Amino acid sequence: MITLDGKIALVTGSTRGIGHTIAETLARAGAKVVISSRNADDCRRVADAFSQKGYDVIGIAADVSDPDAAQNLIKDIIAQWGELHIVVNNAGITRDNLIMRMKPADWDAVMAVNLKSVFNVSQAVIRPMLKARGGRMINITSVVGQMGNAGQTNYAASKAGIIGFTKSLAREVASRNITVNAIAPGYIATEMTEDLTDDAKQRLMDQIPMGRIGETADVANLVAFLASDLAGYITGQVYNVDGGLVMQG
Ligand SMILES: NC(=O)c1ccc[n+]([C@@H]2O[C@H](COP(=O)([O-])OP(=O)(O)OC[C@H]3O[C@@H](n4cnc5c(N)ncnc54)[C@H](O)[C@@H]3O)[C@@H](O)[C@H]2O)c1
Repeated sequence: MITLDGKIALVTGSTRGIGHTIAETLARAGAKVVISSRNADDCRRVADAFSQKGYDVIGIAADVSDPDAAQNLIKDIIAQWGELHIVVNNAGITRDNLIMRMKPADWDAVMAVNLKSVFNVSQAVIRPMLKARGGRMINITSVVGQMGNAGQTNYAASKAGIIGFTKSLAREVASRNITVNAIAPGYIATEMTEDLTDDAKQRLMDQIPMGRIGETADVANLVAFLASDLAGYITGQVYNVDGGLVMQG
């Protein structure tokens, strides 16, 4: 049984989709959870709904692509709850296009929200985690960062970047009892994947050995395990949650 009693967790991009389910799963396991996304109303709405279910949560809005906003987010959490043990870097966007049509602004936006945010939040949280003599960082990457995808050069580069970042930071902080791992979801049913055409969805399904789309809980359950004391000797790893789409040696 996974328990996160006494732990404090931040999940970025947790007002909907995968992040929302991660936040609820961690809260159900006993953690106090910070709900966060860019929009303050969304954070309040989701935090209120979780509070009504009896979970110990607060909502704090922050655009994590902005280093100052990320610093302030961590400061606010420490000011309210004193510590922060678990960080899930989940916020992400897509701005898909073939390279010849991709606007530099779409490249920059995806790199800023998907990759720079991971640096911003990790840098802001590293001191509190060192002070707490331990911590868990879990970064949400994607199978697209491993296998590529036509029309997603920006997204694939940002997600591949997360993998290199995860392994490097894991090496930096391993001796301090801080673990850093990544999860690579495949095709998960959320508003992000709703945008795909039926054709694109079918092509994806054809490649999944388990023959079905993943649920947000499939990702969240692994996050809960990696965040728990059960995973204390695991760091620098990338775990696929993709129905067998990518099988690596
Ligand atoms: N859905 C999938 O199939 C899939 C597959 C692989 C990886 N992922 C990754 O999982 C993560 C969650 O995806 P999802 O499908 O739940 O997406 P989603 O669009 O449903 O949710 C994304 C969340 O991130 C928040 N967000 C966006 N920009 C932000 C910013 N600048 N600062 C703070 N919050 C911001 C949004 O408000 C939202 O809460 C993303 O990193 C995504 O790349 C998703």
